[in-house]
Amino acid sequence: MLDNPLGRWIRGLGGKRGHKPGRPTVLVKELGERDRRRILRHFLALDSSDRLLRFGSMIPDEQITAYVNKLDFKRDIVFGVVNSVFQLVGVGHLAFAPADGAKPTRKARVAEFGVSVSKSARGQGVGSRLFQRAAINCRNADVDTLYMQCLTSNQTMMHIARKAGMEIKREYGEADAYLQLPPPSAASVMAEAIEEQWAVIDYTVKANARAAVKWLTPKK
Ligand SMILES: CC(C)(COP(=O)(O)OP(=O)(O)OC[C@H]1O[C@@H](n2cnc3c(N)ncnc32)[C@H](O)[C@@H]1OP(=O)(O)O)[C@@H](O)C(=O)NCCC(=O)NCCS
Repeated sequence: MLDNPLGRWIRGLGGKRGHKPGRPTVLVKELGERDRRRILRHFLALDSSDRLLRFGSMIPDEQITAYVNKLDFKRDIVFGVVNSVFQLVGVGHLAFAPADGAKPTRKARVAEFGVSVSKSARGQGVGSRLFQRAAINCRNADVDTLYMQCLTSNQTMMHIARKAGMEIKREYGEADAYLQLPPPSAASVMAEAIEEQWAVIDYTVKANARAAVKWLTPKK
């Protein structure tokens, strides 16, 4: 997250989508194999009520570990947001699956999105930005339906879904939310590429700073 001159400049460049004044710029980066341990740490830090909202049940640490071990970065896309001390404070998982007829699409695949943000980073636009990034990624992959399942009691997520214009179907305390996406355009491809470039720079600077601090801290 950037709340400095670079962040303000990026906002000026067009990173404004959904940006609220006073909030830091949130940069979303695609994660890979090197982030697996950080992703695990992020999920293990979620308390039981957050696990219920994110995974649909209060899954124990062992199941979270198995889920993270099974993440396939070639098949699915995992997005992340790091804070100033290089901790992963937001993770969005975009999984692609063959369309089964139940979802409103004309394409061969649909995408399902799940997201979590650490308590310390909530209310700053991280969840919304992860969602927007997932949506633009689907669009650029020519997937026209982004699907999300959440509990109807999850007011924050329902708000994000409504704000994004998702069609929401409620049943037995659960909500299926669908976002219909337009086809890719040169602008959508460019917008995603630019965001990823900035996020890579931000991530690298923070990773190096973290490594330097570790290296300079005297060993006990
Ligand atoms: C849902 C979650 C991802 C949101 O992350 P976040 O970074 O706090 O989200 P944002 O800051 O982008 O947006 C929160 C929005 O919800 C609004 N909001 C917060 N609490 C709310 C409530 N009780 N009712 C309605 N809206 C609420 C905020 O005002 C904000 O809206 P705005 O951007 O229009 O001002 C986070 O709370 C979380 O990780 N929860 C646990 C896991 C989960 O629920 N995952 C979703 C299921 S897939």
